[in-house]
This record gives sequence, C-alpha cells and structure tokens, in this order.
Amino acid sequence: MTQRRFLVTAALPYSNGRLHVGHIAGAYLPADTYVRYLRSTGADVRFICGSDDNGVAALKTAKEQGRSVEELTASYNAAQARDFAGLRIEFDIYGGTHQPEYVRVHERFSQDFFLKINAKGLFTKKSSKQLFDTQVNQFLPDRFVRGTCPFCKSDRAYGDQCENCGRAMDQTALLNPLSLMTQSTPVLRKTIHWYLRLDRMQSKLSEWLASKKDIAASGASWRSTVLNQSLGRIEAEGLPERAMTRDLTWGVPVPLDDPDAKGKSLYVWFDAPIGYVSFTAALCEKNGEGADAYAHWWKDTNCKIVHFIGEDNIVFHAITWPAMMLATHDSNDTQGVSGEYQLPHNVVANSFLNIKFPGQEEQKISKSRGMAVWIEDYLQQFDADPLRYYLTAVAPENARTAFDFDDFVSRNNGELLNAFGNFFNRTITFAHKYFDGKVPQRGTLEAVDVEQLNRCKVAVDRTGAELEACHFKGALAEVMALARSGNGYFDVTKPFLSRKTDMAACGRGINICLQTARTLTTLVAPFLPTIGENCARMLQLGEGWQRWSRACEAIADGQALGAAVILVKKLETTDLIADPH
Ligand code: MF3
Ligand code: ZN
Repeated sequence: MTQRRFLVTAALPYSNGRLHVGHIAGAYLPADTYVRYLRSTGADVRFICGSDDNGVAALKTAKEQGRSVEELTASYNAAQARDFAGLRIEFDIYGGTHQPEYVRVHERFSQDFFLKINAKGLFTKKSSKQLFDTQVNQFLPDRFVRGTCPFCKSDRAYGDQCENCGRAMDQTALLNPLSLMTQSTPVLRKTIHWYLRLDRMQSKLSEWLASKKDIAASGASWRSTVLNQSLGRIEAEGLPERAMTRDLTWGVPVPLDDPDAKGKSLYVWFDAPIGYVSFTAALCEKNGEGADAYAHWWKDTNCKIVHFIGEDNIVFHAITWPAMMLATHDSNDTQGVSGEYQLPHNVVANSFLNIKFPGQEEQKISKSRGMAVWIEDYLQQFDADPLRYYLTAVAPENARTAFDFDDFVSRNNGELLNAFGNFFNRTITFAHKYFDGKVPQRGTLEAVDVEQLNRCKVAVDRTGAELEACHFKGALAEVMALARSGNGYFDVTKPFLSRKTDMAACGRGINICLQTARTLTTLVAPFLPTIGENCARMLQLGEGWQRWSRACEAIADGQALGAAVILVKKLETTDLIADPH
C-alpha cells in the first residue's frame, strides 16, 4: 500500500491577542489529535499554522496600545507559539504572514495568486463610495467606523456589523458615522477595488460541496454544520462578487502596475489562507527540499488537505478559499487534476465554547469582559493533558458546549484519574508488589480473559474509525470505555484474592490487565501525549509504540516493567482560578 499523505492546517490566529480555551477547543486541539493519530497509522503528514498578521485587527490593537504593528504582531506571534507548545500542540511550522522570516515568501505566493486570478479575468475592477477621514487622509476600514444601526437604531454598530442586533453592515449604510481614528465625521469618497467574481465559480462550488454531502450522509467526515452553512449561503444569496483589495497600507501590496492600485493591500481574508501555502513552502525550504516542494502537498492529488477551523470561519474555508483556488485552475475539474491546487479533502469546524464560572450563569467567552480562561494562566498551574482531556470530552463538535470549572474538576478526578489513571496504577503497582516488577506468566486463557483481549481489539478499530471521521469526542469515549473495561476485568478476576489461593490465576489476570494497558497506551497518545509517554515508560515499550497497528501487540511474559508514576493528579476546585476578573 502506498503511504497516505495529509496536509493538515489549523486556522491562523490573529496576532493581536493571547489564546484562550475557546480557540484551543475550536480548532487547534482537534487538529493536533488528528495529526498525531494519522502519524501513528504511518501517514506522512505536515501540520501547518502561524499567525494572521495583516489587516485591520492588528492595526487597530497596535493603535490602541500605542505600539508599532510590527512589534505587536511579533510579540503575539511568539506568545502564541509558547502557548501552543505548552499544550503540546506541535506544528511542523508556526509562521506568520508578516513576520520577518516569512513575509517575503508570503507576499510572493499571495501576489502570484492575485496575478493568476487577474490574468484569468476573474476580477472586476470597479469603483464604489467609501467613508474617508479627511483629517488623516485615509479611507476607513470597517472596524474603524462606528455609527447608528439603520435597522435597530443602536449606536453600537460598526462598519462591518451591528454589535446589538448582529446584522451584517455596509459601512455606507451607517447613520451618523464616526471615524474611530480621529473621532471626526467622515465623508463619502470614490475608491476603486478588485472584486472576485465568485459567481463564475458558483456552479463548480455547489457541485463540489454537494458531492461532500453524499459522503457525509454515508457517515463519513464532512460535518453537516459546515455543509449546511456553505450550501445554505449559496442557495440564499448566490455568490455576489466580493472586494479582495482594501485601502490600507498594512498588508500585502496589490501587485499591479496601475495608478488605481496605489496605497492598496490585498484583503486580509485573501492573503491569510494563502499563508497555509506559503508556510508550507517555508517548511519545505527549511527541510532543504526547496520552496517549490510545496506543490507536492498542494498540487498533488495523492495528498489530502484538511483544514481545522472555528465556526466563524466556515464560509471563508468552504467557499471563498476554494473559489480562489478554482480561479487559478486551467482546467474545469473540481475533483483534482495534478498540477492544480487541490480543494480541501475536509473542512472540520467546531462551534464556539462558552464558559461557566462557579456560581455563575453560562456565558460567551469575552476578552473585554474578562470572561476567559487564558492558556498562559492555565499552564502556570496545571499540566497540558487534563485540559486536553476535558476540551476533547466536551468538544463543541456539533453545537456549543461550555468550559465549566466544576465539570473540569469532576471529569479530571472522576474519569481521567478514576478510570484511566487508577487502572494503570493498580495494575503496575500490583505487578511490582507481587511479581517482582515483571509481566507475570499468561498461562492458559479462560473465557473472561479472551473477552478482555477482544475488547482491546474492538477498541482499536472503533477508536480508529471515529478518528478517521474526525469524531474526536466519540473516539475519546471509546478509549475511556476500554479503560473502564480494564477496571471491570480487574474487579471480576480479583487478583487481590487469588494471590492467596491461585498464583497462576492471579498472574494471568495481571498479565491481561497489562495487555489492556498496552493497548490503552497507543490509543490515548494522540489525545494526551504526555500521559501516553508515561504509560509507555511504565510498560517499558520500545520505540514505535505509538504505531496504531501495534496497539494489541503482546507484552511478553517476564518482561520488566518501569516504576509506577502518577499519571493524573487529583484537582480541587479551589486549585482553579475561580475569579473571573
Ligand atoms: N485569523 C482568522 C480568525 O482568527 C482565521 C484565519 S484562517 C485563514 O478568525 F485561513 F485565513 F488562515
Ligand atoms: Zn442593529
């Protein structure tokens, strides 16, 4: 069989803030788990991420904090990389669309994309009226205009959206607009932009998305939330053309020798997904393969591209970004022709995560209201794996769920420690105490033993099937069910009694527990890498223990075991930062 190949990406975080549990649950943790699993099956995988530095978000924060945008994005880029590393979310590359090391290659790819689409005649150049601040001589990005909502009359409306009623806004529709740059009243002025003719890609996109629906219906991986939102968008309003340039100097310059392009940048949502490609090229370069090797991942039908994102990014990843790739194609094929950009094999989106502090109502995570659990704070007190466990167990895969402090503690103590940690602990401790720290003789198996070994095999298959389908919550539930079955087997075979009456039966029981532990070690590793490594150390497994195909490989009679280590610590509710402020 030829080796499977995957290019896995996780949404590029904006480099104007730190990461909280909502970000991690949304895209990064499932992506990392998936990558670890794929590698354990022998697949060749590249895992790509980096910061989204361009556009208005970073510019606005920099202005508010009185810092240069370069310095601001560089410092958040580095801080985010530390947060990810602390959680053992391990990308092959963490780039940044405007970081000194990547900005040149990123500009080259982004500009090439733009030029290719332009050459195909898939942009319309046209003028429109935009709000202009005469004090700073600048057109105003949407987030820099505030005014009264024409629909609900709230004054909490911005140029892109009304914060009160949630409606999407056209900045020119705002009543009493105010420039947030200077607090002055802006004027309407004519400007020219390049609009991507999404209508020209519409039928190919619908056909492609519809083909994913058939797969989803058969139980495979495209989530209905992703398909419904993107197909629903197309059905509801078709695909009108969208401006892909902005009047902004922070970003990738529009690469045209045209006086109308002066002082303009590519729209941040145009260049950001290209970051996935440019960082792949940077990674290939680092690995000594040359930047052109990116094509091996992006333009080869044997490689599968999988994007992990949060729900607010669905339309961009399932419509706009595929449309951009299609717009560069010379052929009419959506299903993949080598040499052209491949459309994603899957777009995996989670919903948002709410938060619930003890004694308070569940609410939306909010940076401005101090309602968040920051990764930096969490890691000062706790290990990565308890959070990885919890965020997978309550993953918002189909609907919103909440990070609930009490639930976090009770699942850590009641599930991870009680079921998983204790099973290892009692098994290893027993083997050290009564079998000289060695794997006892297996002897002749009885029905209960065979059943337990079968449960291991079934768990490997089921966990693997769930992971292949990106059902991480379901996959983790299978692993935990196996841990519980190990405890059940221990309780039923009662080695603590048989050691006084029938040492062979006692040894057989512990042997089967150790085999179960062996399987659990491989199965848990994609979810909880540090715990997996500690398990492997206790069982003294040699290299390659992560291999999925070896999860049920027997540990031989007489093999020495490592010392028992505490896999999971007990948490008290009071350990947690319970103060939301
Ligand atoms: N920065 C965006 C966000 O946080 C995500 C960008 S994903 C990419 O919502 F595709 F554009 F890279
Ligand atoms: Zn409104």
